[in-house]
Amino acid sequence: MFTNAIVRAPSRTFAEGLTTAGLGRPDLDTTFAQHADYCAALEQCGLRLTRLESDDRFPDATFVEDTAILTDRVAILTNPGAPSRQGEVAAVRDALMEFYPSLEAVSAPGTVDGGDVCQAGEHFFIGRSHRTNEAGALEIGDLLTRHGYTSTTVDIRDIPPLLHLKSGLTALDGGRLVLIEALAGHPAFRGYETIPVAADELYAANCVQVNDRVLVAAGFPRIQEALRDRGYSLIVLDVSEFRKMDGGLSCLSLRF
Ligand code: GLY
Repeated sequence: MFTNAIVRAPSRTFAEGLTTAGLGRPDLDTTFAQHADYCAALEQCGLRLTRLESDDRFPDATFVEDTAILTDRVAILTNPGAPSRQGEVAAVRDALMEFYPSLEAVSAPGTVDGGDVCQAGEHFFIGRSHRTNEAGALEIGDLLTRHGYTSTTVDIRDIPPLLHLKSGLTALDGGRLVLIEALAGHPAFRGYETIPVAADELYAANCVQVNDRVLVAAGFPRIQEALRDRGYSLIVLDVSEFRKMDGGLSCLSLRF
Protein backbone atom coordinates (compact mmCIF):
# COMPACT_ATOMS: atom_id res chain seq x y z
CA MET A 1 0.00 0.00 0.00
CA PHE A 2 1.19 3.51 -0.82
CA THR A 3 0.47 6.33 1.60
CA ASN A 4 2.40 9.19 0.02
CA ALA A 5 3.30 10.67 -3.31
CA ILE A 6 5.55 13.48 -4.46
CA VAL A 7 4.30 15.55 -7.38
CA ARG A 8 5.68 18.65 -9.02
CA ALA A 9 3.53 21.19 -10.80
CA PRO A 10 4.38 21.84 -14.45
CA SER A 11 6.37 25.02 -14.97
CA ARG A 12 5.56 27.88 -17.36
CA THR A 13 8.42 26.54 -19.49
CA PHE A 14 6.88 23.05 -19.77
CA ALA A 15 6.57 23.26 -23.57
CA GLU A 16 10.34 23.82 -23.87
CA GLY A 17 11.10 20.36 -22.49
CA LEU A 18 12.47 17.33 -24.27
CA THR A 19 10.20 15.54 -26.68
CA THR A 20 10.18 13.32 -29.71
CA ALA A 21 6.41 12.81 -29.85
CA GLY A 22 5.67 15.12 -32.75
CA LEU A 23 2.19 15.77 -31.41
CA GLY A 24 2.44 19.53 -31.26
CA ARG A 25 2.97 22.04 -28.51
CA PRO A 26 1.17 21.46 -25.22
CA ASP A 27 -1.40 24.00 -24.13
CA LEU A 28 -0.35 25.27 -20.72
CA ASP A 29 -3.78 25.84 -19.21
CA THR A 30 -4.83 22.35 -20.24
CA THR A 31 -1.57 20.99 -18.83
CA PHE A 32 -2.23 22.60 -15.45
CA ALA A 33 -5.81 21.30 -15.44
CA GLN A 34 -4.72 17.74 -16.33
CA HIS A 35 -2.09 17.86 -13.60
CA ALA A 36 -4.70 18.97 -11.08
CA ASP A 37 -6.93 16.05 -12.10
CA TYR A 38 -3.99 13.67 -11.74
CA CYS A 39 -3.25 14.94 -8.24
CA ALA A 40 -6.92 14.62 -7.29
CA ALA A 41 -6.88 11.02 -8.52
CA LEU A 42 -3.90 10.20 -6.29
CA GLU A 43 -5.72 11.73 -3.34
CA GLN A 44 -8.81 9.70 -4.23
CA CYS A 45 -6.55 6.63 -3.93
CA GLY A 46 -5.73 7.66 -0.37
CA LEU A 47 -2.32 9.26 -0.91
CA ARG A 48 -1.04 12.31 0.93
CA LEU A 49 0.71 14.57 -1.57
CA THR A 50 3.95 16.46 -1.17
CA ARG A 51 3.76 19.16 -3.81
CA LEU A 52 7.06 20.54 -5.03
CA GLU A 53 7.26 24.03 -6.47
CA SER A 54 7.66 24.25 -10.20
CA ASP A 55 10.95 25.68 -11.45
CA ASP A 56 11.15 27.36 -14.83
CA ARG A 57 14.76 26.22 -15.23
CA PHE A 58 13.54 22.62 -15.50
CA PRO A 59 10.76 22.17 -18.07
CA ASP A 60 10.66 18.39 -17.60
CA ALA A 61 10.62 18.45 -13.80
CA THR A 62 6.93 17.61 -13.57
CA PHE A 63 8.03 14.10 -14.64
CA VAL A 64 9.24 13.61 -11.11
CA GLU A 65 9.38 9.81 -11.28
CA ASP A 66 12.68 10.00 -13.18
CA THR A 67 14.53 11.48 -10.22
CA ALA A 68 14.27 8.64 -7.68
CA ILE A 69 13.50 4.98 -7.09
CA LEU A 70 11.50 4.41 -3.95
CA THR A 71 10.97 1.06 -2.27
CA ASP A 72 10.02 -0.13 1.22
CA ARG A 73 13.69 -0.71 2.00
CA VAL A 74 15.65 1.93 0.17
CA ALA A 75 15.29 5.28 -1.57
CA ILE A 76 17.71 5.93 -4.41
CA LEU A 77 18.23 9.32 -6.04
CA THR A 78 18.96 8.96 -9.72
CA ASN A 79 21.28 10.84 -12.03
CA PRO A 80 19.00 11.50 -15.02
CA GLY A 81 20.40 10.70 -18.42
CA ALA A 82 19.47 14.01 -20.03
CA PRO A 83 21.87 16.72 -18.82
CA SER A 84 19.05 19.28 -18.82
CA ARG A 85 17.25 17.18 -16.19
CA GLN A 86 20.03 16.51 -13.71
CA GLY A 87 19.27 19.64 -11.67
CA GLU A 88 15.77 18.31 -10.96
CA VAL A 89 17.06 15.92 -8.32
CA ALA A 90 17.96 18.49 -5.64
CA ALA A 91 14.39 19.44 -4.75
CA VAL A 92 13.34 15.80 -4.66
CA ARG A 93 16.26 14.94 -2.38
CA ASP A 94 15.16 17.65 0.06
CA ALA A 95 11.62 16.33 0.06
CA LEU A 96 12.64 12.71 0.51
CA MET A 97 14.83 13.53 3.50
CA GLU A 98 11.59 14.15 5.40
CA PHE A 99 10.56 10.55 4.83
CA TYR A 100 13.72 8.40 4.64
CA PRO A 101 16.50 8.27 7.27
CA SER A 102 19.11 7.94 4.53
CA LEU A 103 19.22 8.11 0.77
CA GLU A 104 21.34 6.22 -1.73
CA ALA A 105 22.34 7.91 -4.99
CA VAL A 106 23.44 6.95 -8.48
CA SER A 107 26.78 8.55 -9.22
CA ALA A 108 28.37 9.67 -12.51
CA PRO A 109 29.31 8.29 -14.92
CA GLY A 110 26.20 6.24 -14.17
CA THR A 111 22.95 7.70 -15.43
CA VAL A 112 19.49 6.38 -14.61
CA ASP A 113 15.98 7.67 -15.25
CA GLY A 114 13.42 6.34 -12.78
CA GLY A 115 11.12 5.60 -15.70
CA ASP A 116 13.47 2.77 -16.59
CA VAL A 117 13.06 0.98 -13.28
CA CYS A 118 9.97 -1.17 -12.81
CA GLN A 119 9.23 -2.98 -9.56
CA ALA A 120 7.32 -6.25 -9.72
CA GLY A 121 7.13 -7.44 -6.13
CA GLU A 122 10.60 -8.38 -4.94
CA HIS A 123 12.01 -8.17 -8.46
CA PHE A 124 12.99 -5.17 -10.56
CA PHE A 125 13.26 -4.80 -14.31
CA ILE A 126 15.89 -2.23 -15.22
CA GLY A 127 15.72 -0.68 -18.67
CA ARG A 128 19.00 -0.07 -20.46
CA SER A 129 17.92 2.87 -22.55
CA HIS A 130 19.28 6.00 -24.13
CA ARG A 131 18.83 7.61 -20.68
CA THR A 132 19.95 4.78 -18.38
CA ASN A 133 23.49 3.78 -19.28
CA GLU A 134 25.38 0.57 -18.53
CA ALA A 135 27.08 1.96 -15.42
CA GLY A 136 23.81 3.30 -14.07
CA ALA A 137 21.94 0.06 -14.68
CA LEU A 138 24.69 -1.88 -12.90
CA GLU A 139 24.74 0.53 -9.99
CA ILE A 140 20.98 0.32 -9.52
CA GLY A 141 21.12 -3.47 -9.73
CA ASP A 142 23.86 -3.58 -7.08
CA LEU A 143 22.01 -1.23 -4.76
CA LEU A 144 18.82 -3.25 -5.07
CA THR A 145 20.69 -6.50 -4.46
CA ARG A 146 22.18 -5.04 -1.29
CA HIS A 147 18.67 -4.41 -0.05
CA GLY A 148 17.46 -7.92 -0.80
CA TYR A 149 15.84 -7.46 -4.20
CA THR A 150 16.59 -9.22 -7.48
CA SER A 151 16.78 -7.56 -10.88
CA THR A 152 17.19 -8.16 -14.59
CA THR A 153 18.23 -5.67 -17.22
CA VAL A 154 16.20 -5.21 -20.39
CA ASP A 155 17.84 -3.40 -23.28
CA ILE A 156 15.27 -1.19 -24.99
CA ARG A 157 17.60 0.88 -27.17
CA ASP A 158 16.41 -0.89 -30.31
CA ILE A 159 12.73 -0.34 -29.56
CA PRO A 160 12.34 3.16 -30.99
CA PRO A 161 9.00 4.28 -29.54
CA LEU A 162 10.18 3.60 -25.99
CA LEU A 163 11.77 6.46 -24.11
CA HIS A 164 11.78 4.42 -20.91
CA LEU A 165 11.12 0.80 -20.05
CA LYS A 166 7.93 1.81 -18.29
CA SER A 167 6.73 3.40 -21.52
CA GLY A 168 6.01 -0.19 -22.55
CA LEU A 169 5.60 -2.05 -19.27
CA THR A 170 3.54 -1.80 -16.11
CA ALA A 171 3.63 -4.30 -13.25
CA LEU A 172 0.33 -4.89 -11.47
CA ASP A 173 -0.08 -6.73 -8.17
CA GLY A 174 3.62 -7.47 -8.18
CA GLY A 175 3.52 -10.06 -10.92
CA ARG A 176 1.05 -9.39 -13.70
CA LEU A 177 2.53 -7.34 -16.51
CA VAL A 178 0.91 -4.94 -18.95
CA LEU A 179 3.30 -5.33 -21.84
CA ILE A 180 3.74 -4.17 -25.41
CA GLU A 181 4.36 -6.73 -28.13
CA ALA A 182 7.95 -5.58 -28.75
CA LEU A 183 8.87 -6.55 -25.19
CA ALA A 184 6.75 -9.67 -24.91
CA GLY A 185 9.40 -12.08 -26.19
CA HIS A 186 12.14 -10.88 -23.88
CA PRO A 187 13.35 -13.66 -21.55
CA ALA A 188 13.12 -11.32 -18.55
CA PHE A 189 9.32 -11.55 -18.74
CA ARG A 190 9.05 -15.31 -19.17
CA GLY A 191 6.73 -16.92 -16.64
CA TYR A 192 4.74 -13.78 -15.90
CA GLU A 193 1.08 -13.45 -16.69
CA THR A 194 0.82 -10.67 -19.23
CA ILE A 195 -1.87 -8.32 -20.42
CA PRO A 196 -0.96 -7.45 -24.01
CA VAL A 197 -1.31 -3.93 -25.29
CA ALA A 198 -2.68 -3.51 -28.81
CA ALA A 199 -0.35 -2.02 -31.41
CA ASP A 200 -2.51 1.07 -31.75
CA GLU A 201 -2.72 1.60 -27.97
CA LEU A 202 1.00 1.54 -27.13
CA TYR A 203 0.85 4.73 -25.11
CA ALA A 204 -1.59 3.08 -22.71
CA ALA A 205 1.00 0.53 -21.59
CA ASN A 206 2.12 3.11 -19.09
CA CYS A 207 -0.49 2.86 -16.37
CA VAL A 208 -0.14 2.99 -12.60
CA GLN A 209 -1.56 0.85 -9.85
CA VAL A 210 -2.19 2.94 -6.76
CA ASN A 211 -3.54 0.78 -3.97
CA ASP A 212 -6.87 -0.65 -5.15
CA ARG A 213 -7.13 1.48 -8.29
CA VAL A 214 -5.33 1.62 -11.62
CA LEU A 215 -4.82 4.95 -13.35
CA VAL A 216 -5.07 4.63 -17.13
CA ALA A 217 -4.80 7.14 -19.95
CA ALA A 218 -8.04 8.23 -21.63
CA GLY A 219 -8.61 7.21 -25.23
CA PHE A 220 -7.54 3.57 -25.14
CA PRO A 221 -10.67 1.45 -24.77
CA ARG A 222 -9.16 -1.99 -25.31
CA ILE A 223 -6.65 -1.87 -22.50
CA GLN A 224 -9.34 -0.44 -20.26
CA GLU A 225 -11.61 -3.35 -21.10
CA ALA A 226 -8.80 -5.86 -20.52
CA LEU A 227 -8.09 -4.40 -17.11
CA ARG A 228 -11.74 -4.21 -16.11
CA ASP A 229 -12.22 -7.83 -17.23
CA ARG A 230 -9.53 -8.78 -14.73
CA GLY A 231 -11.33 -6.99 -11.94
CA TYR A 232 -9.38 -3.75 -11.75
CA SER A 233 -11.11 -0.56 -10.77
CA LEU A 234 -9.91 2.18 -13.09
CA ILE A 235 -9.48 5.92 -12.93
CA VAL A 236 -9.27 7.19 -16.49
CA LEU A 237 -7.29 10.40 -16.91
CA ASP A 238 -6.71 12.65 -19.89
CA VAL A 239 -2.95 13.24 -20.11
CA SER A 240 -2.82 14.42 -23.71
CA GLU A 241 -0.57 17.40 -22.93
CA PHE A 242 1.97 15.27 -21.06
CA ARG A 243 1.97 12.79 -23.92
CA LYS A 244 3.05 15.60 -26.23
CA MET A 245 6.18 15.89 -24.08
CA ASP A 246 6.89 12.12 -24.00
CA GLY A 247 5.44 11.77 -20.51
CA GLY A 248 3.01 9.23 -19.13
CA LEU A 249 0.96 8.63 -16.01
CA SER A 250 3.69 7.00 -13.97
CA CYS A 251 6.16 9.82 -14.74
CA LEU A 252 4.02 12.36 -12.90
CA SER A 253 4.55 11.09 -9.36
CA LEU A 254 6.78 9.22 -6.96
CA ARG A 255 4.63 6.89 -4.93
CA PHE A 256 5.71 5.37 -1.64
N1 GLY B 1 10.07 15.01 -21.64
C1 GLY B 1 10.42 13.93 -20.83
C2 GLY B 1 11.81 13.50 -21.07
O1 GLY B 1 12.22 13.52 -22.21
O2 GLY B 1 12.52 13.18 -20.17
